[in-house]
Amino acid sequence: MKNIRMPLAIRTKRLVLRKPRLPDAPVIFRTYACDPKVTKYVTFKPHKNLKETKTFVKQSIAEYKLNRYTYAVESGDTGELMGNFAVHIDSFKAEIGYVLAGKYWGKGYATEAAAAVIRQLFKNRDIFRIWAVCDTANRASARVLTKAGMRYEGTLRRWIIHPNISKHPRDCCCYAVTR
Ligand SMILES: CC(C)(COP(=O)(O)OP(=O)(O)OC[C@H]1O[C@@H](n2cnc3c(N)ncnc32)[C@H](O)[C@@H]1OP(=O)(O)O)[C@@H](O)C(=O)NCCC(=O)NCCS
Repeated sequence: MKNIRMPLAIRTKRLVLRKPRLPDAPVIFRTYACDPKVTKYVTFKPHKNLKETKTFVKQSIAEYKLNRYTYAVESGDTGELMGNFAVHIDSFKAEIGYVLAGKYWGKGYATEAAAAVIRQLFKNRDIFRIWAVCDTANRASARVLTKAGMRYEGTLRRWIIHPNISKHPRDCCCYAVTR
């Protein structure tokens, strides 16, 4: 299996997915990382201060060399930072995950980003499976995955801890698209 690399930027009709930079941290903190509504179904607690967000950005940048790409999602028109989109490649498969600031919800942006990432990943003949999980209660995320072309595969019981809902592992829906 070849070492699969993702591009440093992916452009869609309305978005640019690019490598994050440390100066992004204040916007990330303010617009979504501190927001309990945005972080409800994710694996991290809302950031309490900018230092936590800076650590997150530094970690995201460092992980690129491990084939774990957390792209900053920005508007193609205005350059506004809107959220992030993670792609973790593990041999022949890749897992995706995403977060957008609340003011950008409901406009098809997450679906647009997911569809573009899936297209990009499948350009590589060695990728056979792209998958994602979401909390069974996260209907918006489930819808994004379906609209982006993934199929529901089943519910993974007690799969992941979403600490803003419960300290106990939660059931998650697994979605995937395969070559
Ligand atoms: C999940 C998230 C990225 C979706 O982003 P988005 O840009 O609003 O998604 P889209 O507009 O592409 O599609 C959302 C779909 O979910 C639907 N939806 C939204 N809330 C819903 C709900 N409570 N129940 C059912 N469907 C819902 C929308 O109607 C839309 O479907 P439609 O096009 O058929 O009408 C965004 O809500 C978010 O950042 N949430 C917080 C972080 C998160 O949960 N990330 C995923 C972790 S697995």
